[in-house]
Amino acid sequence: MELGLKGKRVIVPASTKGILRRVVDQLIDEGCDVAICSRSEDTVARSLRELSGGKGIAIGRACDVNDKDDYEAWLEEMIEQLGGVDIFIPGVSAGGGADSERNWWKSFEVDVLSTVRGCEVVIPHMEESGGGAITFITTTASVETFGGPQAYNAMKGSLLVYAKQLSQEVGKDGIRVNCVSPGPVYFEGGVWQMLKDTMAKWFAKVERDHPLGRLGTPEEVSNCIVFLSSPAASWVSGTNLIVDGGFTKRVQF
Ligand SMILES: NC(=O)c1ccc[n+]([C@@H]2O[C@H](COP(=O)([O-])OP(=O)(O)OC[C@H]3O[C@@H](n4cnc5c(N)ncnc54)[C@H](OP(=O)(O)O)[C@@H]3O)[C@@H](O)[C@H]2O)c1
Repeated sequence: MELGLKGKRVIVPASTKGILRRVVDQLIDEGCDVAICSRSEDTVARSLRELSGGKGIAIGRACDVNDKDDYEAWLEEMIEQLGGVDIFIPGVSAGGGADSERNWWKSFEVDVLSTVRGCEVVIPHMEESGGGAITFITTTASVETFGGPQAYNAMKGSLLVYAKQLSQEVGKDGIRVNCVSPGPVYFEGGVWQMLKDTMAKWFAKVERDHPLGRLGTPEEVSNCIVFLSSPAASWVSGTNLIVDGGFTKRVQF
């Protein structure tokens, strides 16, 4: 299948590791020019070195998406350097944490507010250039009970509602908005490696709860994010694609 991604200008914040780093790798392989960031200058510099010499160009600098002014400035800088923006993939998370008021604020600001702010910067540019695609990264923990009542699940759930309503608003401008909700994804240095090391029994139960008997890989989720964000998915908007190896148990009509 031809994804139609060659030459697309893409912004992927918070993308120096895990699922979104794999998304960046794949987009560069498809010939996109991609803007990346994370909070660490060293990590961004290393990622840019690793990404150089591909079919597309990688640009970026350190930026904390929770810093409103710097995040908005970073977005405008990246749009200027890329010459516009066709695809925006905001998928940052504060990672939740224990159920305290501080974590609720942190999850709201990082997971939700930064996504809203990002869309508000990016959408006028997409409107000007005749369209685009926005893909949020949410989680299966926002569509099924998982891990108890906590900010992470609820804030990610609010993104599903926002994405759906945004898709209705911006469709007339040729902009598609979708979500990808991954189930547990394992990679070295990721949250599930930490859980495997610290809560081995629970980790094994989560593995067993997957019909496929294992957690996902960044690549398996990234394949779906890249497809939904690409022109090949031109008639998909307002949807939430669950990518979880059958982990969730609800019937998805
Ligand atoms: N892994 C899973 O099992 C899983 C399952 C479902 C959904 N998800 C969702 O998928 C997304 C990616 O998760 P992941 O596990 O692949 O990676 P991750 O461990 O959450 O890290 C992803 C990246 O985000 C950057 N980052 C974090 N906070 C930032 C901030 N405030 N500003 C800028 N960059 C920031 C990190 O770099 P720095 O630390 O250097 O800033 C890192 O490059 C998240 O939204 C997560 O909730 C993950």
